[in-house]
Amino acid sequence: MIVLGIESSCDETGLAVYDSEKGLLAHVLHSQVEVHAEYGGVVPELASRDHIRYLLPLAEKVLDQAGICRHELDGIAYTAGPGLIGALMSGASVARSLAWALSIPAVEVHHMEGHLLAPLLEAGAPELPFVALLVSGGHTLLAQVEAIGSYEIIGQSLDDAAGEAFDKTAKMMGLGYPGGPVLAKLAETGRKDRFKFPRPMTDRPGLDFSFSGLKTFALNTWMQHRQATDDEDQLRADIACAFEDAVVDTLLIKCRRALQQVGCHRLIVAGGVGANQRLRQRLHQLGKKHRFSVNFPRFEFCTDNGAMIAFAGCLRLQAGQSQALDIDARARWPMENLSPVE
Ligand code: KG4
Ligand code: ZN
Repeated sequence: MIVLGIESSCDETGLAVYDSEKGLLAHVLHSQVEVHAEYGGVVPELASRDHIRYLLPLAEKVLDQAGICRHELDGIAYTAGPGLIGALMSGASVARSLAWALSIPAVEVHHMEGHLLAPLLEAGAPELPFVALLVSGGHTLLAQVEAIGSYEIIGQSLDDAAGEAFDKTAKMMGLGYPGGPVLAKLAETGRKDRFKFPRPMTDRPGLDFSFSGLKTFALNTWMQHRQATDDEDQLRADIACAFEDAVVDTLLIKCRRALQQVGCHRLIVAGGVGANQRLRQRLHQLGKKHRFSVNFPRFEFCTDNGAMIAFAGCLRLQAGQSQALDIDARARWPMENLSPVE
């Protein structure tokens, strides 16, 4: 089965072609970073307009790169939520129209399910069951995964998501948008021992997260030391380093706790913050020490992309799932409500 996947939930237009026999055939991505940069964050209306501009040319490009014509497609998968409603509607309308014109089924994909399944696109993907850590700009959660489509949330953020905390901390130090990758890069030149930030909610049982206090801690440190310093760049780097260390440590503690609680030895990590090098290294080390496997998506499939949507949609289409002609995009969509893929 050959499936075209369309992702347009936020500020990236991602399209991909996935073949259930041969794997991923092609993927293309257009990032809107330049459109939103001057506003310091995503402007929803500009996002929708930019998706509309790029969706069809990218659809042609990805089919071309995959070396197939549109009549060879067996189905179309599109992100139906959660995300920015106008952005979602743009992708959903193109997906539904193409499917209707080609007389093939179209299937809705939950954006976070797409992220969660992205590690399974790689060689050596783990078998079920496993524990998934999803760390993106909008969500931070731990899920117990017994089957594809069956996700029991065992821990989640009570306030800011990890990526959001990265972005806000970067912004308050004047590092622009999107802040996560910039802050992570800066952390490499930070001095490890200058500041020690708290590890929120690790001193009590449970698997929930809270990153908003950490962001405030970073802000207070910045305000306190900014006047007195003669090297603002080094101060930024030192704060970035302490902040990243605290987020990574907190995620590690909760992952290990989740695996112990569930009695599982397989962890997968997905979502934008999964691109963080320190998180990747430290989790691999922890896995070696405590004998659990850790799988990440390849670097470019941690953040939003069409490949994860094509793949997740293909699994659902193969199970006979698809939706009727009406377009039902949702800004909010709890992941626990998904139907299992049998
Ligand atoms: O999964 P994603 O592309 O979008 C959502 O579904 O939210 O994640 C984007 C988030 C942003 O908050 C971004 O700052 C963060 O992932 N991010 C990173 C890194 N790369 C992206 N955070 C920390 N370190 C990185 N290297
Ligand atoms: Zn995402």
